[in-house]
Amino acid sequence: MSKVKGQRQAEKAIDAYIEAQAQQDLLRFITCGSVDDGKSTLIGRLLYEAKCLFEDQVSALQNESKRYGTQEGNLDFALLVDGLSAEREQGITIDVAYRFFKTQKRSFIVADTPGHEQYTRNMVTGASTADAAVLLIDARYGVLAQTKRHAYITSLLGVESMIMVINKMDLVDYAQKRFEEISAELNALAHSLHYKAPLIIPVSALKGDCVTELSPNMPWYAGMSLVTALETIPKKQDDLDLAFRMPIQWVNRPHLDFRGVSGTVAAGQIKVGDEISVVPSLQKAHISKIVTMDGELDTAISQQAVTLVFDREIDASRGDVVCVSSNPVETSDQFAAQVVWMVDEEALCHRNYLLKMGTITTNASLTTIKHSIDIESYQKRPATSLKLNDIARVDLKLDRPIPFESYQDNQSLGSFILIDRQNFNTVAAGMVKHPLRRASNIHYHPHSITQTSRETMNGHKGMVLWFTGLSGSGKSTLADHLERRLHAMGIKTYLLDGDNVRHGLNQDLGFTPSDRVENIRRVAEVAKLMVDAGLVVLTAFISPYQADRARARSLFKEGCFHEVFVDTPLELAEERDPKGLYKKARAGEIPNFTGIGSPYEAPDHPELHVKTADLTPSEAVEEMITYLEKRLK
Ligand code: ADX
Repeated sequence: MSKVKGQRQAEKAIDAYIEAQAQQDLLRFITCGSVDDGKSTLIGRLLYEAKCLFEDQVSALQNESKRYGTQEGNLDFALLVDGLSAEREQGITIDVAYRFFKTQKRSFIVADTPGHEQYTRNMVTGASTADAAVLLIDARYGVLAQTKRHAYITSLLGVESMIMVINKMDLVDYAQKRFEEISAELNALAHSLHYKAPLIIPVSALKGDCVTELSPNMPWYAGMSLVTALETIPKKQDDLDLAFRMPIQWVNRPHLDFRGVSGTVAAGQIKVGDEISVVPSLQKAHISKIVTMDGELDTAISQQAVTLVFDREIDASRGDVVCVSSNPVETSDQFAAQVVWMVDEEALCHRNYLLKMGTITTNASLTTIKHSIDIESYQKRPATSLKLNDIARVDLKLDRPIPFESYQDNQSLGSFILIDRQNFNTVAAGMVKHPLRRASNIHYHPHSITQTSRETMNGHKGMVLWFTGLSGSGKSTLADHLERRLHAMGIKTYLLDGDNVRHGLNQDLGFTPSDRVENIRRVAEVAKLMVDAGLVVLTAFISPYQADRARARSLFKEGCFHEVFVDTPLELAEERDPKGLYKKARAGEIPNFTGIGSPYEAPDHPELHVKTADLTPSEAVEEMITYLEKRLK
């Protein structure tokens, strides 16, 4: 063969290769299952067999396998996926990592989620963009509670295809009987979700059976290997037919002559010349240009990152959504949702969290927990609070209306996370079901006589003095003294006291964490009305949780909420024991007693800190008066 001819052939081969690569489609999938089901080994094996490991990674793997020796000389793929040895030794966990590999027919991105205790949480993060899920079952243990939970969440997140892999077949002697037993359970499970014909594949990720090719160790299995299954299962449908939506990530204004809004198209498509409307302002404009990193386009489609330029100036800012004008998204400040609770701390109604949906962050609380899901039977069961890994139907209320859609219609405009306001941990992932109509039909009515008018007439400001501290710390005593002093000064006051309010307004509440949250929520709302009425309100409640006091504070204008920490050490409160309750609690007669069976979270930065061990009540009250005098004017 001449040199030139050979070269031409090589070029042709390269072109054909490039062409084949370009036409390859991409499948995103997640793995889920239960702890120690062999996920890391399986992903390592897939990468290895797809020849996506670089030589140096393979030799590192050989060294590591020898060093850690968990697989007696075989390559230990789990080591590869679980990260570098240094990281492992230091116990650093890696969050969701996306791994890429390809075969002749398809490319794959697998969301790899190491970290055992966070398995559910990482899985939720990876699943919302996945075409398919690979559910792993350890052949020795069969279907476990976590298998059921993950299958349920996968279905809840709308992942359409499911491959069930019964792994570690080598550890059950490749027994057909075992495979059939577990398959029967898996079929039942799949049928109660929306997976009507699940693929069930027996595999040994460690030894390589049925991963790429069928295995002589399991001649009784004539279905697909895992790789063949991954190559053939259908991908998620494109959402180009849906109404156009693009949440605005930022307003792009590099110089005076250019203004565009940038973001990633969440659904549908839009052309130059089409009319759009921006939610919530509902102002309309036509698209005059669609700009991308690689130049201008005529049409922008779902998942593309673009900058849209309009033919006129309209109100548009980060968090707003550009929609096709004939069908804009709704806005609401209340909606029904499904949530997966992801932390040890209980979820309680009316506690305040941060809600993050796309580019929007706002305050939110659960108003109702409708039910949670019993993971054994997939039946609904009543719930008043949520624990780690619970899945539930809830209603949420936000601080302000935001644009969103149901998760079913639009995954990016319908999914959100809840964040703890104190430590910024993600506590839940959620999917919107539908807006609550009651929210849109209630409006604030502006009144002619305002708080300021009443304050002027009273001759002093309205405010709340929020006393917090253990039972028997002296809150009620101090508040009572202070109210007498203020009353004598001609100040209009009202004292809301725990024991008294619990005889009336809050007589339906006890002392469980969720009852205490509701107790404080109601008291804060009543105090807010009273401050609006121009009063100086003194509240004396244990109010043991930081988060609830923070929520109470958030209801008031700057300078209207003063937290008074009545700081009495537990031993002293217990010694005083004015109502004999500590004695009863120690005897086991009051189960949730604050300081004994239930926590008290002291304030970090109270406006007033009264150490009752060092001061008499009159001295403490004089200090408070000094603090208040200039603030009442
Ligand atoms: S709070 O925790 O929800 O703020 P609140 O101040 O209303 O409590 O009520 C506390 C009062 O209820 C205590 O002073 C005590 O007299 C009484 N009490 C009865 N049971 C408990 C309990 N389990 N824990 C604390 N206080 C209790």
